[in-house]
Amino acid sequence: MINDVKEILFTEEQLREKVKELGIKISEDYKGKDLVVVGILKGSVIFAAELIKNITIPCEIDFMAVSSYGNSTETSGIVKILKDLDQNIEGKHVLIVEDIVDTGVTLNYLLKYLKARKAIGIEIVSLLNKQARRKVEIDVKYMGFEVPDEFIVGYGIDYAEKYRNLPYIGILKPEIYKK
Ligand code: IMP
Ligand code: MG
Repeated sequence: MINDVKEILFTEEQLREKVKELGIKISEDYKGKDLVVVGILKGSVIFAAELIKNITIPCEIDFMAVSSYGNSTETSGIVKILKDLDQNIEGKHVLIVEDIVDTGVTLNYLLKYLKARKAIGIEIVSLLNKQARRKVEIDVKYMGFEVPDEFIVGYGIDYAEKYRNLPYIGILKPEIYKK
């Protein structure tokens, strides 16, 4: 797998530090509030797991699964809800945990989709931001790292369902997906 990675952007150590920092901020901001942390499957699974370990206030966790890409590296613009929330979020503070914001289409759709459920507030934490590719303006309250306009894998993030188990984040060699 390592041979398919062009460059390592963030090491395990850097990721651990950043996630800890985000956890501290979130814990301060949501102190005394009814918090539901919603991981977006499958890309955010490692980030969400590490993040909740660093949240020191009581919180619930839930997951949603959405698909937008298929097995291609370009977003289709169509967002499909594959798994909805198990819990009722009415009267609660929702924090969506995303792996990477690229065009913004997925989160834009999700925010609209969840708006009707009467949460007190819905905010977003994303580990990565690919600002260069944004098509829809998205207000991301907590952001980890900026990444270049390249195809990113590792730490939960895949290409065609592979590379999620890399413990670091790297750039996938273009020859892998341009075959
Ligand atoms: P958006 O709707 O274009 O913002 O895309 C969001 C989703 O596309 C992310 O949650 C990822 O699952 C996926 N995605 C975007 N960029 C990358 C990438 O560089 N590598 C792998 N998946 C990506
Ligand atoms: Mg995702």
